[in-house]
Amino acid sequence: MMENELQKYFLGQELPQNAEAIGELFQNAKKFSDLLMMYQCAIREVRTKFEILNDDLSLHNNRNPIEMIKSRVKRPPSILEKMKRRGWELSIPSILENLNDVAGVRVICSFVDDIYNVAEMFTRQDDVTVLEVKDYIKNPKPNGYRSYHMIVEIPVFFAHRKQNVKVEVQLRTIAMDFWASLEHGMKYKKDMPNAEELISELKDCADIIAATDLRMQSLNERIHTENTEYEKTGISN
Ligand code: GTP
Ligand code: MG
Repeated sequence: MMENELQKYFLGQELPQNAEAIGELFQNAKKFSDLLMMYQCAIREVRTKFEILNDDLSLHNNRNPIEMIKSRVKRPPSILEKMKRRGWELSIPSILENLNDVAGVRVICSFVDDIYNVAEMFTRQDDVTVLEVKDYIKNPKPNGYRSYHMIVEIPVFFAHRKQNVKVEVQLRTIAMDFWASLEHGMKYKKDMPNAEELISELKDCADIIAATDLRMQSLNERIHTENTEYEKTGISN
C-alpha cells in the first residue's frame, strides 16, 4: 500500500482517480515529508555539536581542527531505491529502523589526529549513542578509500515528542575528501575499457595522499613545538 503510493507520488507515476485514495496518498506524503524534516533537524543538531567543538578548540587551544562540514538528507528516489535493493519493507517505521544514512554529515578535518580527537569529543557527549564505527583509515578499503565512519543516534525534541534519529557521520581529511570525490565518479564506470588502469592509479594516489597526510601532520607538530621553544627564548627574529 505505502510502497505503491510513495512510488507513484515520488516517481511521478499515475495518480489515483478517487477522492479517498488521493486523500490517503497526500496523508502518506505528508508523513513522509515530516520524516525528512525530522532527519534535517537531526543534521542541524549534529552540525551544531561539531561547530561548538571547533569554536571551543579554536578559542582555548588555538586550533581549528575542522575545515568544513557538509551535510545532506538522502533524496526520496535514493531512499526508495535502497529500501527495495535491500528488500526492506517500505514504511516509515522500517526506514527509521533500517536505513542508517538518510541523514549524512561529513566533517572535513585538517589532520588525521584531528579526526580521532573530534570523534572522541563528539561520541563522549551523553546524548550521542554510537551504533556502529567503521574505521576505513586504519583499515582502508581495497580501492584505497579512507575515512572514519560512524552511525550515531541522537534525540531530537519536538513540540510534543522526542524522537531518536540515526545520522551517518563521515570524518576525513581534506585530501581524503578530494580523493573520494574523484573516485566517486568511478561508481558507474566500472565497465569502461580502461577501468582497471584508472582503479589502479586511484589506489596509487590514495596511498600517496595517506603518506602525505601523515607528513603534513608531523610537520605541523614540528612547526608548533619548535615555535613554542623559539618563543620561550624571547628572541624575536
Ligand atoms: P552503503 O550501502 O553504500 O551505505 O554501504 P555501507 O552501509 O556498507 O556503508 P559504508 O560505511 O561502507 O559506506 C557508506 C558511505 O561511505 C557511502 O555511501 C559513501 O558515501 C562512502 N563510501 C564508502 N566507500 C566508498 C568508496 O569506496 N568510495 C567513495 N568515494 N565513497 C565511499
Ligand atoms: Mg550509504
